[in-house]
Amino acid sequence: MKLRLTEVFASIRDAEDKADEPICAYVYDLKALRQHVTGLVNTLPDNCKLFYAIKANSDLPVLKTLAPLVNGFEVSSGGELDWVREHFADIPVVFSGPGKLDRELSSAIEYNVECLHIESFNELQRLAEIAQRVGQVAAILLRVNLPVDNLVKSSLIMGGKPTPFGIHIQQLKECLSWLRVHPEIQLRGFHFHLLSHQLNAQAHLKLLETYQLQVRQWCDEYDLNIDHVNVGGGIGINYRQPEQQFDWETFSTGLATLLDNDVLSGVDIRFELGRYITAACGYYVMQVIDIKHSYGKNFLIGRGGTHHFRTPYAQGHSHPFHVLPVHAWSHPYTRPKISNEKVSIVGQLCTPKDLLAFDAPVKSVCCGDLLVFPYAGAYAWNISHHDFLRHPYPMKWYLPVE
Ligand SMILES: Cc1ncc(COP(=O)(O)O)c(C=O)c1O
Repeated sequence: MKLRLTEVFASIRDAEDKADEPICAYVYDLKALRQHVTGLVNTLPDNCKLFYAIKANSDLPVLKTLAPLVNGFEVSSGGELDWVREHFADIPVVFSGPGKLDRELSSAIEYNVECLHIESFNELQRLAEIAQRVGQVAAILLRVNLPVDNLVKSSLIMGGKPTPFGIHIQQLKECLSWLRVHPEIQLRGFHFHLLSHQLNAQAHLKLLETYQLQVRQWCDEYDLNIDHVNVGGGIGINYRQPEQQFDWETFSTGLATLLDNDVLSGVDIRFELGRYITAACGYYVMQVIDIKHSYGKNFLIGRGGTHHFRTPYAQGHSHPFHVLPVHAWSHPYTRPKISNEKVSIVGQLCTPKDLLAFDAPVKSVCCGDLLVFPYAGAYAWNISHHDFLRHPYPMKWYLPVE
């Protein structure tokens, strides 16, 4: 995704000009988001459908920007389902996630969820009871925890090893036999979401090929007639080397070739991407309050912290950032400054875990300058512990689509 830094930085400078104390803020570039997703949709092969996993960022302006572009939303809780249906009466919704309550399964039927992604045999049987009770057929995919050789290393692995996600492959036969005598459940296909943070296009193609061959084998072995396979999300953002992002062009071209092999002809492929859709539209901003030197290390203390932006600490990386110099300095004493040094960026929390960047070289930074963290549009504000220490929430604004 192409970042529109000039426009984003101008809006941040404008907010800082108007503020009477150091700022912290989230900025979302909806125009860039629209351009990015339009590009993804236009380059996917025809029989591929793009859903957005709203857990990555379910802000209403973000969802409103995406709704006309994607094939639907993926939700993972009753709360997300209520939120989507409150604002989007008709958009296709699929429902994933472990530990669904009976109440959530009932709402899924009531709210016309297009397909439920079933996580266990127990969940399947509970859904069948509810479907029977209300006299409706519930469409499902079985989410399978597939053992995969040489699964790429990622800090977020949901399958191919012991995890609470999906149905163990050895239980599949039992589920499929049970489904034959339960017409209140319609099996539409299979679901896989084995990992997040995939940065390698070829490795992702290989994984999709593994899914394809496995599903073909199940269809033959169990005489199944399915209409789609959901290959989950998982395409990553390279926070450590932001100039080297997932090569979408190689991926989409390779995908067209892969699907041309007709191993699963007539079967659609669905993606439910989260991070790769919204990460790049968001920016977190901190203004430098203090600069310290402590036992050989430099610290920039910014307004805000991991209670707003937990992504770097949660993923264990040093987040990339830009320094926007601010020239105004209204105090009679020397302005703290650091040049050509490595710094750690921390926030206002009383814990050493409040760390956003470390060992990061800076040319020059002064108290009062602005630090802008890109790729803060997914799993950022919405995974953070906002009320820890009761600091105020950051400012928030959206650069419009038009
Ligand atoms: C079932 C499921 N689908 C999709 C996603 C979205 O993953 P990502 O944001 O890595 O694309 C997740 C994330 O945890 C998930 O659990």
